[in-house]
Amino acid sequence: MKILMVSAEAVPFAKTGGLADAVSALAITLTNMGHDVKIVMPRYYKIDRNKLKLLDGPMGIPVGGGEAWTAVYEASMPQEEKLKVYFIDHEQAFGRDGVYGTPSETDFHDNPFRFSILCHGAFQLSRKLGWIPDIIHCHDWSASPALVFLKHIYRYQEFNKTGGVLTIHNLGYQGQYSKESFASFGIDWGLYYGAGFEHHGGINLLQAGISSADMITTVSPTYAREIQTAEGGFGLDGLLRVRSDVVRGILNGVDLRSWDPATDKRLPKNYSFKTIKDKAVNKKALQEKMGLEVNPDIPVFGIVTRLADQKGIAELFAPTYGCMYNMCSNLKIQVAVLGSGEAWCENEIRTLESKLPNFKAYIGYDENLSHLIEAGSDFFIMPSRYEPCGLNQIYSLLYGTLPIVRKTGGLADTVENYNEQTGEGTGFMFDQLTPDAIYNTVGWATYAYYNKKDHILKMQKTGMAKTFTWDASAKQYLDTYNEAIFRGCGK
Ligand code: ADP
Ligand code: GLC
Repeated sequence: MKILMVSAEAVPFAKTGGLADAVSALAITLTNMGHDVKIVMPRYYKIDRNKLKLLDGPMGIPVGGGEAWTAVYEASMPQEEKLKVYFIDHEQAFGRDGVYGTPSETDFHDNPFRFSILCHGAFQLSRKLGWIPDIIHCHDWSASPALVFLKHIYRYQEFNKTGGVLTIHNLGYQGQYSKESFASFGIDWGLYYGAGFEHHGGINLLQAGISSADMITTVSPTYAREIQTAEGGFGLDGLLRVRSDVVRGILNGVDLRSWDPATDKRLPKNYSFKTIKDKAVNKKALQEKMGLEVNPDIPVFGIVTRLADQKGIAELFAPTYGCMYNMCSNLKIQVAVLGSGEAWCENEIRTLESKLPNFKAYIGYDENLSHLIEAGSDFFIMPSRYEPCGLNQIYSLLYGTLPIVRKTGGLADTVENYNEQTGEGTGFMFDQLTPDAIYNTVGWATYAYYNKKDHILKMQKTGMAKTFTWDASAKQYLDTYNEAIFRGCGK
């Protein structure tokens, strides 16, 4: 199959979250299965042009009232020569810091214009390459307009055999802008209502994508159900229920080339479940690196996260609840945090660090440290308010680091709760997102650490033996692609 992925992010070129991991890993897996896959994304300012190959000639893209002239660059995915990534270069749209925004303007007001360039660009690129895909696979709100363009414009042209698939990685981000910005798409105003853009008098890009996609997927089976409920639907549950016959939940996999403790090049010492004792070397390295007391007997609780409300940061860090402060003061534990995001939370974490010797944090983004925290911690805390899939709890399972999670979305689909009688399970779960629930579950895990060593080891080994490869997920995507072509193009 010829598959074009349209995405604002893909590792290693641009990443703000798990979306970037998922897009590249799926594309690599499909390529290895023999499919002809390409990725198209913006050439952000930070992506060095000197490392890319410039394609001949400019590329014109229809935008409101005219045409934007862009350049197109090409690169191969590292270690995957066959998978080509195309970068659309347009100074006004992408010649600035930030993927969606910056700390001072968190959501660029001209995002409809910027991502219209990406979405129309996907079709123009296909034409330029003389390569019409069987599937256009769009990820999240920023790529959603491409599904509208496919259904209402390009399918009447040479894309008449192309199916359109939308993957929702996070329903909490929908791309909502003013009505005026609809003009940047350069499409008929009839489509403002007709293609599902209209939302409370403005525009909603994800809503338009959901309305126009031939098939819709999200990144875990539980999340596929949750988004169709008032509680998890972020206002789009009604529309998703209308479209429920085309909604599928496909769990993300893990790219084992980066995330396998037996081969992970970023670790001081590799280990597998047969050599799990060597995990202690990583624990020591982590304690040293973070400035925690080096002591193999104290359990380390790791956290790696975007500091965003979705992740339960209010319940965990807000001083009103004192959850983290109480945990670190009352329990004989250590906590190592890596994260960046909301300013209040970054400040609060710094305050906690100044008060608690057993709480250490690194505010920022650090790929190496994220691997060391996964390998060196005994437990991993992930109390998400909602979690479409979640990658870190899966990394934790594979690294013998027991996840402590709220039972929601992909967390519910990947972690099995500890059974105190038998020692079965792979982690610790709670239902309600409250500071008390987090505190009590961390306390429960701490008790097991000190008193049920055999259970802890059994759970670590159970988790490490799980497989979360992309192969099984990629097969489900292929079924979805076939169904999209059938539904969209009637064959
Ligand atoms: P989300 O995409 O909602 O942020 P996921 O769990 O799916 O959540 O993916 C998060 C990804 O981003 C993981 O690969 C995680 O290791 C990484 N990550 C998040 N914050 C940081 C950080 N501060 N430094 C390094 N990696 C981070
Ligand atoms: C989103 C979700 C996360 C998911 C990731 C990749 O960022 O928040 O749960 O794992 O996308 O699909």
